[in-house]
Amino acid sequence: MNKVMRPAWASIDLPALAHNLRAIRGFAGNNRVLAILKANAYGHGLTRIAQALTDIDAIGVARLDEALQLRNAGVTKPIVLLEGFFSADQIPVLAASNIEPVVHSTLQLQQLAEVANLTDRIKVWLKVDTGMHRLGVEPNDASACYQRLYELPQVQGKPILMSHFACADEPNHSKNTSQITMFAQLHSDLSAAHGEVVTSLSNSAALLSNIAPQFDWVRPGLSLYGISPFANECGEQHGLKAVMTLQASIISVRKVAAGETVGYGAAWQPKTDTNIGIVAIGYGDGYPRHAPEGTPVYINGRCYPLVGRVAMDMLTVDLGANLEVELGDTAQLWGKDLPVETVAKAVGTIPYELLCNVARRVQLDYVE
Ligand SMILES: Cc1ncc(COP(=O)(O)O)c(C=O)c1O
Repeated sequence: MNKVMRPAWASIDLPALAHNLRAIRGFAGNNRVLAILKANAYGHGLTRIAQALTDIDAIGVARLDEALQLRNAGVTKPIVLLEGFFSADQIPVLAASNIEPVVHSTLQLQQLAEVANLTDRIKVWLKVDTGMHRLGVEPNDASACYQRLYELPQVQGKPILMSHFACADEPNHSKNTSQITMFAQLHSDLSAAHGEVVTSLSNSAALLSNIAPQFDWVRPGLSLYGISPFANECGEQHGLKAVMTLQASIISVRKVAAGETVGYGAAWQPKTDTNIGIVAIGYGDGYPRHAPEGTPVYINGRCYPLVGRVAMDMLTVDLGANLEVELGDTAQLWGKDLPVETVAKAVGTIPYELLCNVARRVQLDYVE
């Protein structure tokens, strides 16, 4: 019987997403959860993931267009803009759409102070640089910035104090201790001046390793999608389930004799007679072109090695001399049976990059 063949698609398991959120709430205790959905929800599809997270406390994205996409789709949850506004003309848009920017520089603070005639006051998050040295106001300026924001007529209520870890995926790294100490000190100073100050520090790694449980909002991204942020581990070890399974059909099976070459650059030459399978996914779908020979591809219950160069629309696997795979069978590039953590390690990258790179032409099939 002819099997239905498809180019690359990704199954997105929404019950697994709900399971992961429950697991995260278990780790987070009474803290609130800001789900990080930037970069198209780490490749899982921004709007559908947001809509599926019906009992999330808030959603975090990096760019204004992502936030507006959610509002236009009818998402009413609080939305936090992690990099804040890029220019003053975006501020009225935030106010009109009830989007909460992170203020991470004195320039942004000044732009906010100068904007007139906002339709509504906006809630803001103040980011302090406790050691990442990427975004955030200087710790010495934090108190003045907090005070200033609190007093601005453009701002609603007290800012939420936040910072970001540089090394949380290495729980014993000394940088974590210094960042937590500095953040706790800032929190205590601001609380002394202003009463209760709400805080946010932990990403997935900090949450799973429980290194900073005392702050109010956790900000998981990767763990929500079932993936571990730690090297040499999989999400399953933390009770998480992979949400994305990336697949494609085998659209050609052929014999190759020893000494023949396969693919662009004639880059692979089998030492013995073998069979190869051509899988309908390539770097045009986001599969990494630099994936080396031997990168695992899961077919019919076992892994086969990738061979030759990954092309734009196809890649090749060595199926061996005893053929157990048929035309039309499904290859899994990563997901339920082949952790993306394993593939990322083989490829020399991190799961974040593989997930975010899944191209728009890959159809996302949502499993309810
Ligand atoms: C400010 C901020 N918070 C939280 C996260 C979520 O991180 P993770 O996906 O490691 O949980 C990110 C992602 O990089 C981030 O930039």
